[in-house]
Amino acid sequence: MKTRIKNILRLQPVGETITVTGWVRTKRDTGSFSFVEISDGSSLANLQVIAGESLANYHSAITSLGTGSSVVVSGELKESPAKGQAVELHADDIEVVGTADAETYPLQKKRHSFEFLREMSHLRPRTNALGAVGRVRSRLSYAVHQFFQIRDFVQVHTPIITTSDCEGAGEMFQVSTGQEKGSDDHFFGHSAGLTVSGQLQAEVYALALGDVYTFGPTFRAENSHTSRHLAEFWMIEPEMAFCDLQSNMQLAEQMLKYLLEDAMEHCQEDMQLFDKFIEKGLLKKLRAVVDKDFAHITYSEAIERLSKSKKKFEYPVEWGVDMQSEHERYLTEEVFKCPLAVTDYPASIKPFYMRVNDDKKTVAAMDILVPGIGEIIGGSQREERLEVLEGRMVEAGIDLKEYNWYLDLRRYGTVPHSGFGLGFERLVQFVTGMANIREVIPFPRTPGSAPC
Ligand code: 4AD
Ligand code: MG
Repeated sequence: MKTRIKNILRLQPVGETITVTGWVRTKRDTGSFSFVEISDGSSLANLQVIAGESLANYHSAITSLGTGSSVVVSGELKESPAKGQAVELHADDIEVVGTADAETYPLQKKRHSFEFLREMSHLRPRTNALGAVGRVRSRLSYAVHQFFQIRDFVQVHTPIITTSDCEGAGEMFQVSTGQEKGSDDHFFGHSAGLTVSGQLQAEVYALALGDVYTFGPTFRAENSHTSRHLAEFWMIEPEMAFCDLQSNMQLAEQMLKYLLEDAMEHCQEDMQLFDKFIEKGLLKKLRAVVDKDFAHITYSEAIERLSKSKKKFEYPVEWGVDMQSEHERYLTEEVFKCPLAVTDYPASIKPFYMRVNDDKKTVAAMDILVPGIGEIIGGSQREERLEVLEGRMVEAGIDLKEYNWYLDLRRYGTVPHSGFGLGFERLVQFVTGMANIREVIPFPRTPGSAPC
C-alpha cells in the first residue's frame, strides 16, 4: 500500500516502513549514495529519499535516474539530520517503473514561462505552480458544493446540449452530426447548441425545489483573445425562488468570502507559493476581501464616476453603453479598492430574462467586480411577470413559441426569483493570482487552440 507524501510530511511516522510512488524531481549523487527528491502530486513539498550502494540496482539504475522518471520506493522513514526537511526515506528498495530521458525531457530544471508550458498541457501539471493550481482548483470545487449543500441547496445537472440560448448573444456553438441534409433534419428535431449557461433550466428546478444550483461546463463561441476569456469554462449558478436582488447579492458576497477563506485554510502551502512567486501580497488581498463589506453602486452612478474621472479610457463611456474591462477595473481597483457590486444596468444591454425596474429603463441586474479581474459574477432578479417578459422577448426578436416552457413558469405559480453565475476560472484566477485564465483550467480552449 502506498502512502501519499502529503500525509507522510504531515504525520511524520518516523521508524515506520512505508512505500511511496512518484516522479523524480531532482537527484544528487555523492559517490556512495544519492539524494532523490520525489513528488507524487499530493503536496507541493517533495519527499527526500536516501538511496545507497546497498540497493541491488544502485549502479545499474539509480545513478542514471533522470528527472521525470517514475519510481516505487520502500524503506524506513527517519528524522533528517540536515536542514530543509524534517524526515527522509531511507530506501530498501527502489523499483524504476518508467525512465525519462534527461536529454529530451521537456521540463528542465530551470524556470519555464507559462506561455512555454501552455504548449505542453500534458506535462505542465508536473511543475510546482501548475500542480498547485490543480490542487487549489479541486479544493475550490469541493468547497462550492459544501457551501451550497450545508445551506440545503439542491444540485441540478443542467444539460450541456440545449435548444435554448440563455444569453441571446449569438455565442452558441452549434451541435450537428454532420449528416443532416436539410434544416428539418436535425438530430434532435431542432437546431441545438452547446449551453452558454444552465440558468434557464436551473430556473425550472428553482420553481419546484426552491433553492438550487448547477455547476458545469459552459461554452461561448466569442472571438475574445483576452486573459479572462475561454471558449469552454465552468460556471456555478445558484437560482433561488422567493428571492430578490438584495438577497441574491448577499448570497454572492457570502459565497465568495467562503470560498476564499476555504482555500486559505485548506491550501496553505500552495497559497504561500502563489503569494511568494505569482502575486506578491495575494494573501493580504484575499484576507481583506473576506474581512470587509463589498461596495455597492448603481450602473448610473458608475457611469457618472467614470465620465467625471480624469483617467483616459480607450473606450469612452456614456449612459447606455456596456462597461469595458478597463472601466470595471478602474472602479474596483482605483476608486473602491475592494470588490464592488454594480446594479441596475440599462435594459437594452442585458438579456431578456432580467426583471424590468419601475423606471422601465433599467433592469434588476448585478455584476460583481473584483480587483485584477473585473467581472467575476453576473446575476439578476428574473422577470416573473408574464406580460412584461413576453414584451421583452418580442423586443429581443425571440420566438415566444420556442420558449413556451419558460413562459409556463410564469403562467403557473410564478414567484420572484433570482440567481447569478460565478465564472469558476475567474475565481481560481482571483484566488491564485494567475495573470492568465489559460493557466487555471487544465486544458484551455480558446480561439485557434484546443490542445489534448
Ligand atoms: O455574466 P454571464 O454571461 O451570466 C450568465 O451567463 C448568467 N446566465 C448567469 C446567471 O445569472 N445564472 O456569465 C457569468 C460569469 C461572468 O461573470 C464571468 O465570471 C464568467 O461567467 N464568464 C466567463 N469566464 C471565462 N470565459 C468566458 N468567456 C466567460 N464569460 C463569462
Ligand atoms: Mg456578464
